[in-house]
Formats: sequence, C-alpha cells, structure tokens
Amino acid sequence: MSMSGKTCVITGATSGLGKESARALAAGGAHVVLAARNADALAGTRDWVRAEVPGAQVSSVVVDLASLGSVRTAAAQIAAVAPAIDVLMNNAGVMFTPFGHTRDGFETQFGTNHLGHFALTALLQPQFVEGTRIVNLSSEGHRLGDIDLDDPNWQHRGYDKFAAYGAAKTANILHAVALDQRLRGRGIRAYAVHPGMVATNLARHMSREDVVAVSGRARSHAIEVLTPEQGAATQVWAAVSPDLAGRGGLYLADCAVRSDAEPYATDPVRAEKLWEVSESLCAAAIS
Ligand SMILES: NC(=O)c1ccc[n+]([C@@H]2O[C@H](COP(=O)([O-])OP(=O)(O)OC[C@H]3O[C@@H](n4cnc5c(N)ncnc54)[C@H](OP(=O)(O)O)[C@@H]3O)[C@@H](O)[C@H]2O)c1
Repeated sequence: MSMSGKTCVITGATSGLGKESARALAAGGAHVVLAARNADALAGTRDWVRAEVPGAQVSSVVVDLASLGSVRTAAAQIAAVAPAIDVLMNNAGVMFTPFGHTRDGFETQFGTNHLGHFALTALLQPQFVEGTRIVNLSSEGHRLGDIDLDDPNWQHRGYDKFAAYGAAKTANILHAVALDQRLRGRGIRAYAVHPGMVATNLARHMSREDVVAVSGRARSHAIEVLTPEQGAATQVWAAVSPDLAGRGGLYLADCAVRSDAEPYATDPVRAEKLWEVSESLCAAAIS
C-alpha cells in the first residue's frame, strides 16, 4: 500500500522495532518523523533510513519520554514538521528496569512506557486527521501483571520489575481501548500490538536469572525469536492495512486480531479509569 503523502511519527525509532518500522514506512513513501532520546542515534538512524530508501523523507525530533517537559517540547517540534499526522506509533519502551523514577517522579516503566506516550498522544491530538491510526506497542508480557490503578507508581507495595513491566504493557492496551472509544467518532482508530519475541536491545536490563524467572512466570516454552524485520510486521500492518478499516480498540499479533488478551487489559471501564488517572498525573504538561 502506498503511503505517499502520509506522515508517520515513530517513538523509539533509533533501535529494534521502531527503526525497522521507520525503514518500512519510508519505503512505502511516507514522511517518517523519528522521535527518540539520543540525538546522535537519531542522526545515525536518519542516515541509515536514507541509505536504505533513497529519496526517503525523514525528520527527527529529540524526545525523552521519561520527562513530561521534554514530551511537551517535542510535541511542539513534531507539530511543526508534521501538521497532519496519519500514524502515531507509540513504540519506545524499557523493560524490567530496577526501581527508579522518571523526571516527574513516576515509576520508570509506567512513566516511560505509558505516561510519556499518554501525554505525547494528548498533545498531538490537534494534528490528527480523519483516518489517523495510533499504534501502541504492548506485549504478551502484559500477562505478567495487571495495573493497580490505586498505586500505579508502586508507592505502597514492594517493587517487582516483572509485574511492573506487565502493568505498563497492560496500560498500553487500555490506553488504545480508551483512545479508540474517545476518537472513533472523528474516524481516528487505535490499536495495541504484540510484535512477537524479537532480538532487539530491549533485554539490556535482563540477567540470565531474569530470563529463567520470566520464562517460568510466562509458562512459555521454546518461543521462536524473530528478527526486527519480522517483528515489525504487525505494527506496520496495524499502521497501514485496509483489513483494519473501520475497526479499532483491538489487540493485534502475527498480523491478525487476537481475542485472547487478558480481560483486565481490554475492559473499557478500566480503560476510562486509567485515562482519568493518567490525565490527572500528566495535567501540568497536557493542559
Ligand atoms: N523485542 C521484543 O521481543 C518485544 C516484545 C514485546 C513487546 N516489545 C515492545 O516493542 C517496543 C520496542 O522495543 P524494541 O524491542 O525495539 O526495543 P529497543 O531495541 O530497546 O528499542 C527501544 C527504543 O525505545 C527508546 N527509548 C527507551 N526509553 C526512552 C525514553 N525515555 N524516551 C525516548 N525513547 C526511549 C530507545 O532509545 P535508547 O536506545 O536511546 O534507549 C529505543 O530507541 C517496546 O515498547 C517493547 O515493550 C518488544
């Protein structure tokens, strides 16, 4: 499908799935806006996309999703280079980080993976047009834990880095459900994606013991490890496929709609509650 004349904004575009999605969408003719926190990596990715796709239209914007101030500045810069956004791919993420906090005092995984994207999406709403798709990268890892809406920042419980990743990835699905509920009337649809298990830099915080521990919790056996090219297929499909026209609020994997996400991750009432919690936590940045 030609993406000529369309604009796609991709967070975490300097590595793994985001970088490969940028290449694929540029190859389809889209103007891609790369958003990530490392300026040198952004310049390198921009050169790489241009080398892979001669004539590619590529812009780049620095954003640290672990800082709402940075998100606000970046949203204004994105709006300047992309007055109309056809695809927003909320792809950046961190996994199994030790207990820590973002610049605004949110737990690192919840703050980076969900709240940073919640604020960015809210700030970019004026740039959305009829037909815009928002693609949130979630994970089968959402099964590692539900989000505690009364304690999303782990202030009143002992921290568990696996459960915290599960909570953040659950939030990514609930965010897509709530976005779709709120925006479908304007022809704007949202999706959550599990890309598969993909060989990227995501596992940088994992020790060998962590691999054993998480395999036990997920009760997973002999899962096929995909290349970034293979892994990016579902999020690119979510961004462009006519198969999804008129549909949204869905959990996708293997370039197909999946109906087996955990019920706590797709409950529309909980999606609204998370929206209210997120709006209140991000109020200073998005109002
Ligand atoms: N790989 C898998 O098997 C897998 C499975 C399920 C879901 N996912 C999801 O897929 C998404 C992409 O992951 P990946 O596998 O491609 O990982 P990756 O190779 O580690 O890429 C993650 C990207 O996010 C960026 N990022 C991290 N923290 C950021 C921040 N505070 N502000 C801005 N950008 C930030 C990284 O930038 P830096 O390099 O500068 O840190 C990098 O560009 C994630 O949301 C992940 O949860 C991946």
